[in-house]
Amino acid sequence: MKLTPEQHAQFQRDGYLFFPSLFTPDEVATLNAAVPALYARREAYNVREKGSDAVRTNFAAHLYSEPYAKLARHPRMVEPVQDLLGEELYMHQFKINGKMAFEGDVWQWHQDYGTWKNDDLMPTERAMNVAIFLDDVNEFNGPLMFIPGSHKKGVVDAQHDLSTTSYPLWTVDNALITQLVERAGGKQGGIVSPKGPAGSMILFHSCLVHASTSNLSPWNRVSVYLSLCAVSNHIRRFKRPEYIAHREFDAIPCLPDDCLLSNVAVDLPWRDGMPARALETSLDELSFAK
Ligand code: SIN
Ligand code: MN
Repeated sequence: MKLTPEQHAQFQRDGYLFFPSLFTPDEVATLNAAVPALYARREAYNVREKGSDAVRTNFAAHLYSEPYAKLARHPRMVEPVQDLLGEELYMHQFKINGKMAFEGDVWQWHQDYGTWKNDDLMPTERAMNVAIFLDDVNEFNGPLMFIPGSHKKGVVDAQHDLSTTSYPLWTVDNALITQLVERAGGKQGGIVSPKGPAGSMILFHSCLVHASTSNLSPWNRVSVYLSLCAVSNHIRRFKRPEYIAHREFDAIPCLPDDCLLSNVAVDLPWRDGMPARALETSLDELSFAK
């Protein structure tokens, strides 16, 4: 899937692109069917909400779940990102975020590249976030919010918030958010939130400032978040466990377009459990052969 010149221009200007209903209801059903069993696992890669058993985020399912291994190699997802970054890609991070009915907690205002730079020593912002809705997303179930154009600021100041939710995050303070929203149009478009049916996809720049509120509605808002990085821009430090920040930098090979509904074989290296090394971390900057 090649993007049009208008889509390229829109991405440069706003920092995101929205593709409503990109995946069909049958394709979404294969992905959704796997979620309860994945969330039921008592593993480090399932991070639960503060004070609750609801899963906030599940990491690395593409390494142990067949439909997600296919999604991670899906041409409708990979090719537009490759088109925008102009290079082959590897999977830096893979999450299935729960934002479950009544229990899903906030994601504070943040940029993802700030974390990848500070924690993982990713050299530049040449990486992309992809969100794929597994549930319909509406104004009530905690849709993702963006400040359009905020990616043009590059990496902004952030504080490491270890207490608001169960997941530590480098967050942007209210004064800077106020300024960025004003600059983006204030009440006229300074905050946007793409909403739509299950199967919709958003691509957003790794420096785009984003957040989501808690989910007080009776509707889950399960979404897959994939972070794809240009191969030459791979991380230089393994400070975070491998199930959060991946360490295999091979280019993603795409599968056929119908892979979610066909029997195409995929490799599942963690099918029988996560290897112990996935929990090992290091503060050293690693050297890699050029
Ligand atoms: C994220 O920013 O990683 C997640 C945001 C969300 O799930 O709303
Ligand atoms: Mn994020």
